[in-house]
Amino acid sequence: MSEIIVVKDLIKYYNQGKDNQVFALKGINLTLNKGESVALVGVSGSGKSTLLHIIGAMDNATSGGYIFSGQDVTKLGVDGLAGLRADKIGFVFQQYGLLSDSTVEANIKLALCFLRDKKQAKEAESRIDETLAKLGISELKGRKVRELSGGQKQRVAIARAMIKNPELIIADEPTGALDRNTANEITDVLISLVKEYGTTLIVATHDLEITKKFDRTIKLENGCIV
Ligand SMILES: Nc1ncnc2c1ncn2[C@@H]1O[C@H](COP(=O)(O)OP(=O)(O)OP(=O)(O)O)[C@@H](O)[C@H]1O
Ligand SMILES: [Mg+2]
Repeated sequence: MSEIIVVKDLIKYYNQGKDNQVFALKGINLTLNKGESVALVGVSGSGKSTLLHIIGAMDNATSGGYIFSGQDVTKLGVDGLAGLRADKIGFVFQQYGLLSDSTVEANIKLALCFLRDKKQAKEAESRIDETLAKLGISELKGRKVRELSGGQKQRVAIARAMIKNPELIIADEPTGALDRNTANEITDVLISLVKEYGTTLIVATHDLEITKKFDRTIKLENGCIV
């Protein structure tokens, strides 16, 4: 299997050198293979979100190496990082991150505005109906997000993340706000979609029941992989 992510000796300090300095990641070494689905677990404060932010090109590490799809992410400037996020990474969050007063369709289309390749954006737009169908939410296309249940909102967020056919999906506690059954359903639909498209998936979670569904589980403890 080929590698999509290679993280080497990654260190992250917040507020380095100040009184409120936090040593959040203490030398992370991690390789993710293409198409692999990985659960990231660990107690609150162990560094899961910090690691996902760096892998998702939303934050910089203090030091260490990070290669995404053969590209050295540590060498990218602000625009390069934004482009990487827009083109190649889909995000799913606990609180969905959708625009409540817009329709499901408008929320999904918004993700395509940021794509640098306009041809890719057009192609993706033609897949909206198919993607909604795969997530079982075709009938919600014209509905306002604020009228939807939590599980339905998370399906929309997954559709928004998947529509551009990204190389990587990052999800930070995607089932944290959902009940047991809905959490299982959402995890099942997410994993079946990434398997179908060959997308790599990394999910931070406290839910040990859903971790069984992933190819591999990585545990963080106090900023280290154990
Ligand atoms: N923006 C920030 N500024 C300063 N410290 C931060 C910041 N974000 C996180 N931290 C600190 O870094 C450490 C790791 O936090 P992180 O959010 O990565 O943990 P987590 O494993 O995601 O926790 P949770 O399960 O509660 O979401 C914690 O000590 C936290 O207080
Ligand atoms: Mg977190």
